[in-house]
Amino acid sequence: MSSTLRSANWFGKKGKDGFIYRAWMKNQGIPSHEFKGKPVIGICNTWSELTPCNAHFRELAESIKHGIYEAGGFPVEFPVMSLGETLMKPTAMLYRNLVSMDVEESIRANPLDAVVLLCGCDKTTPALVMGACSVNIPTIVVSGGPMLTGKYKGQNIGTSDLWRFDNANRSGEMSDEEFEFAEGCMARSKGHCAVMGTASSMACMIESLGLSLPGNAAIPAADSRRKVLAHMSGQRIVAMVNEQLTPSQILNKQAFENAIITNAAIGGSTNFVIHLMAIAGRVGVPLNMDDFDRLSANIPLIANLQPSGKHFMEDLFYAGGLPAVLKELDVFLHKDVITVNGKTMQQNYTDAICYNSDVISTVAAPFNPQSGVVVLKGNLCPDGAVLKPSAATPALLQHSGKAVVFENIEDYKARIDIEDLEVDETSILVLKNVGPKGYPGMPEVGNMGLPKKLLDKGITDMVRISDGRMSGTGFGTVVLHVSPEAAVGSVFALVQSGDIIHLDVHARTLQLQVSDEELQRRKLMWQSPVQMAARGYVQLYQQHVQQAHLGADLDFLQGSSGSEVSRDSH
Ligand code: FES
Ligand code: MG
Repeated sequence: MSSTLRSANWFGKKGKDGFIYRAWMKNQGIPSHEFKGKPVIGICNTWSELTPCNAHFRELAESIKHGIYEAGGFPVEFPVMSLGETLMKPTAMLYRNLVSMDVEESIRANPLDAVVLLCGCDKTTPALVMGACSVNIPTIVVSGGPMLTGKYKGQNIGTSDLWRFDNANRSGEMSDEEFEFAEGCMARSKGHCAVMGTASSMACMIESLGLSLPGNAAIPAADSRRKVLAHMSGQRIVAMVNEQLTPSQILNKQAFENAIITNAAIGGSTNFVIHLMAIAGRVGVPLNMDDFDRLSANIPLIANLQPSGKHFMEDLFYAGGLPAVLKELDVFLHKDVITVNGKTMQQNYTDAICYNSDVISTVAAPFNPQSGVVVLKGNLCPDGAVLKPSAATPALLQHSGKAVVFENIEDYKARIDIEDLEVDETSILVLKNVGPKGYPGMPEVGNMGLPKKLLDKGITDMVRISDGRMSGTGFGTVVLHVSPEAAVGSVFALVQSGDIIHLDVHARTLQLQVSDEELQRRKLMWQSPVQMAARGYVQLYQQHVQQAHLGADLDFLQGSSGSEVSRDSH
């Protein structure tokens, strides 16, 4: 391997600097020849026991190392901040951009020629990819894989059942003991959520962008073939150094379009929109909200997976995995885009076979003609809002109702279950100040639970609107990501209980039926509810976070700074 390696600016140096760069590494038992021209491959690990979905990543890193050694590379594993969706308050999303900075600076500052990103739980994937894109050295993603399907009293369950169990528990249909028993039944193996939630949508996004080896998205974490994929990815990244195949060569506009088409066909998460926009911002590919609507419009839902359908990620793997889905989407996809293994998208799926047409249907006879994420516009959301029709109630897709407004999450929690709340099943629940700046961090509270008195009547869905997000495992007629958010004083901030809101998904509109004069009057009375953090990262975030329709990245993180570092440390 030649001295053109980036790492040669460290390990290839003579004199004092070279001594410093090598000597301390040798305390790990690394012999001198390792430093002589071998490609140095970083393994960026989000392992953490506080991120249970990624808790098996040290094992996977070992498999990656085997592949790197086999191909003649020099692996070095390093940690970055990990983002666990389930434990982090107020929301892991608050820290996605912070992790992307950690990843970017860790890669650039160190003697790395390429990097393997170990991603799993929701935000770990976009955070690592955003950071790596802003450096742009050869990069491959290895996902941690989904959990095995949960088993509860003879039923298959996954994260989407949590929302059903919660309603059943609150209405008294499911006892507290049963509720606790279900916890262990649902999360019974290593891996991330077993449904097409955000983590699985992110893994499919990566594969459809061409940033992973084919098949990466669906292999269960507990299946030994996950380790084989990790091993093969380690082998492949070494070759990518020779080829200088970098993310910017893979991530062109067509690759992004493939990812949008794929996300529609699999019923992927609404969070996909925000994360893909943020990644596009790092590589400078022009993408806007209308691209999502336009490209998903005639794509049917072909994967029958929860929350839009009935099966689980494990079933998708047995049915042929994402390559079988992509093969079925052949007529829609850009086939010639290059992927990390040096082959085109089409070459990667051409031999795929669908083994179960109940899990992966055909485009001609789809599981559901309705797919994707629709983008709504109107006076309530001039920059857009999103809704996932496949997870909504068809009868509510055109609906007018009286708003029942909650000013913030505390207001919602205090009043949702009180007996004299003026609400019926035709009402529209509105939750404000759960956007990027307002919460801050845009939590997954948009699929707010229904009022207890309506649950008792057997109501299972209502139109709900917020400037927040929803878990990718969630479902319902839920309008999310209203932009601009209430906290910046938009029209959404001015909605009052009793106002009529008209939702028309077919026409892609969301309209507040209040006159402009009245809105003007309300605007004059409006006071910002935002409490700015006194210091630290959260203050930086609140000052710089962009609105949801732009990907909610920090404004100064857009673009790339490359991998060049000209100065030495001593
Ligand atoms: Fe980690 Fe769902 S909680 S993927
Ligand atoms: Mg989540």
